[in-house]
Amino acid sequence: MSTVALSALLAAAALSGAQAQTTTSIVPLVDHTYAYSNLPYQVEPTGDIRGNQEGYNICNSTTENQESWCQTLVVNTIDDFCLWSSPTPNNTIGESEAYEVAWCSKKGHGSRTMPEGTLQGVQYLVTSAYIMIVGFVDQTQINLAPNDYGGELDPHGADLLGNPMGAMVYSNQYPTGNTNNNSLSQVIEWTQFIGSDTFCIKICNPDQTDANNVGLCQNIYDEVGIGYNCPNAAKNGTFEVCDAEPMSPVGQYVSNGVTTTWVQPWSGVVSAPYTPTIPSSSNCRTFASSALYTDIVVPTNAASGSGASATPAPTGTGRGGSSAGATRTGSAGGASATGADANTGAAGALRVSALATVAGVAFAVMFMA
Ligand SMILES: *[C@@H]1O[C@H](CO)[C@@H](O)[C@H](O)[C@H]1NC(C)=O
Ligand SMILES: *[C@@H]1O[C@H](CO)[C@@H](O)[C@H](O)[C@H]1NC(C)=O
Ligand SMILES: *[C@@H]1O[C@H](CO)[C@@H](O)[C@H](O)[C@H]1NC(C)=O
Ligand SMILES: *[C@@H]1O[C@H](CO)[C@@H](O)[C@H](O)[C@H]1NC(C)=O
Repeated sequence: MSTVALSALLAAAALSGAQAQTTTSIVPLVDHTYAYSNLPYQVEPTGDIRGNQEGYNICNSTTENQESWCQTLVVNTIDDFCLWSSPTPNNTIGESEAYEVAWCSKKGHGSRTMPEGTLQGVQYLVTSAYIMIVGFVDQTQINLAPNDYGGELDPHGADLLGNPMGAMVYSNQYPTGNTNNNSLSQVIEWTQFIGSDTFCIKICNPDQTDANNVGLCQNIYDEVGIGYNCPNAAKNGTFEVCDAEPMSPVGQYVSNGVTTTWVQPWSGVVSAPYTPTIPSSSNCRTFASSALYTDIVVPTNAASGSGASATPAPTGTGRGGSSAGATRTGSAGGASATGADANTGAAGALRVSALATVAGVAFAVMFMA
């Protein structure tokens, strides 16, 4: 569990010396709770072997521009949600996972705004246990290389500081039944996949803290992608809102009448022994994208010509990602999008390695949600 991971990190840091004094004060990201209006400048200012949080959590009209380093992400409605992606052009999720920023479909969250044409098809599913937004994206508009098969982001990570580090998520859809659009509640458990021009962001209902609900936002199945983590019927070119039944917890399936849980292995070929079932949905309403995404920003490709300059982060040194040895590029699951559905893309070929090396000391990282 998390304490094992943390103590492993602390032990390794003590051996390496240099990080010992900074790692002792780390609080896991999921243990930080703040009202949106009371967020500190940075939720994880201290950092560790991966460096420090690079952006900030206080996001307002001053920080709302295309070079924003806002790392507070809002997920409200089909026309008003954000995705994590790179601050610098032509990047990959593998490189940028530690320092990604919020890209929002609507202004008002102190972040970057998705350029026109970013979202190409979106299915917004409301269930009792979570809200899931899944679909098709022109990922080059939000700074990903055209061929990046992407990866998975969540508030855990091997050092429990999250990917991106210090990432906070809020929604006006919770507590369930909230009707004040300006009232944002913190979402503790969430997961995002993005890559191969597909995406999924799932926010688990923060009122439900039982293991089953948390299991629906599992972050340990990163290599099997959207099809397993976000089973859906999204269609490219269609924008719809539906009610839906919750999915089964990721990894859980019935074989010969027995409910079994598959756990993604730490190494070797990753092949799930079951095919995910798409939960039933109802009451679907479709929209024209032009009616939904009205906060138009000129596409970065057109605006930048030979490539936009990268804005330096305001603080921080975290270029942790692969350099800290905490992630690897997976060899499995890099499915390419066929265009037929969103289940085959964003295979999440990124994950925390079972073996991380700190100052030459290898240790196993137990990594559970
Ligand atoms: C806006 O956010 C920035 C960066 O987080 C912060 O420095 C500034 O104080 C904020 N401004 C207001 C008016 O809250
Ligand atoms: C994007 O990055 C790739 C790999 O580094 C490089 O080959 C390509 O030229 C870059 N594209 C642009 C538009 O900068
Ligand atoms: C709140 O958001 C919903 C969904 O986007 C919208 O229909 C409604 O008009 C909004 N209410 C107010 C008071 O802005
Ligand atoms: C979705 O549709 C757009 C517009 O036809 C297309 O350019 C894009 O490649 C499609 N995306 C995927 C993942 O097939």
